[in-house]
Amino acid sequence: MPSHPLLDAGPVDALEPFLHEVGSVFSAFREQDSGCVSYGVDVGGKRWFVKGAVTSEAVASLRRAVQVHALVGHPVIVPLERSIALRGGLALVYPWVEGEVLYHPTTSRKGGRAAPGSPMARFRRLPVPDVLRALERILDAHVTVERAGLVAVDLYDGCMLYDFGNRRMFLCDLDEYRPGPFVLGTDRLPGSRRYMAPEEFAKGSTIDTRTTVYVLGRALRLLLDASDEEREWRGSASQLTVIEQATADHPAHRFASVEALAQAWHDVGPRLR
Ligand SMILES: Nc1ncnc2c1ncn2[C@@H]1O[C@H](COP(=O)(O)OP(=O)(O)OP(=O)(O)O)[C@@H](O)[C@H]1O
Ligand SMILES: [Mg+2]
Repeated sequence: MPSHPLLDAGPVDALEPFLHEVGSVFSAFREQDSGCVSYGVDVGGKRWFVKGAVTSEAVASLRRAVQVHALVGHPVIVPLERSIALRGGLALVYPWVEGEVLYHPTTSRKGGRAAPGSPMARFRRLPVPDVLRALERILDAHVTVERAGLVAVDLYDGCMLYDFGNRRMFLCDLDEYRPGPFVLGTDRLPGSRRYMAPEEFAKGSTIDTRTTVYVLGRALRLLLDASDEEREWRGSASQLTVIEQATADHPAHRFASVEALAQAWHDVGPRLR
């Protein structure tokens, strides 16, 4: 088989000139907090998302992503197709997914979830069954994440890539997920405060699947509300009870596993098919 200019690339000197050589770059993400620079590139009619890192912190996060994808594959999680060695760094190649992340902070711009035209506000106006289907996909992916022995770190609406045309949710940027449980050795984990569990802010605490349960509970709470301030709940009282248990301050009071949370959520929810 003839080699693929992108997927079979050997070590590369500099990512951006290389991508211009092998295809046409139609998008660039240069202002991300992670320090990575990513590109959308079309090679022979197929689109790819290529994420590059050259700083040590950013390279470490991409190495983590390689480990995550080696452990878990799921139709909702955008799969890692290839890694490319860069001079002084690493680049990861994923298929391009048509969609918009529900929240896209950059180094120069944060906030805006409540703005009427924002992806999050549009998501919140979708019919409830579409939102429930999206939540279902997030839960289902995390049952697989849990089975792979990983815990979610830095899961927030910036990882939720929603295809509004086909009404389908995907997950990207799971770069901080780690094998767990583990003991937090720093003052806090990376992440968005509105999703994070209390133990993620306490050095020495155990981060485990109950932490993932909490974060997922927050995702359920935030996405099934018509407002950004959690004042217009669109679900049922029994769904809210499940969320309350998932997001209990004390991990021992939460569901013991993502699977148990997903089961409880199904038990109280409408049949979607
Ligand atoms: N497979 C993909 N297909 C299309 N677009 C994608 C894909 N993966 C990510 N994106 C887009 O690229 C943006 C940046 O990707 P990603 O979140 O992985 O970068 P990051 O450097 O980790 O950013 P951050 O510092 O915000 O975490 C995302 O917000 C999303 O809009
Ligand atoms: Mg990131």
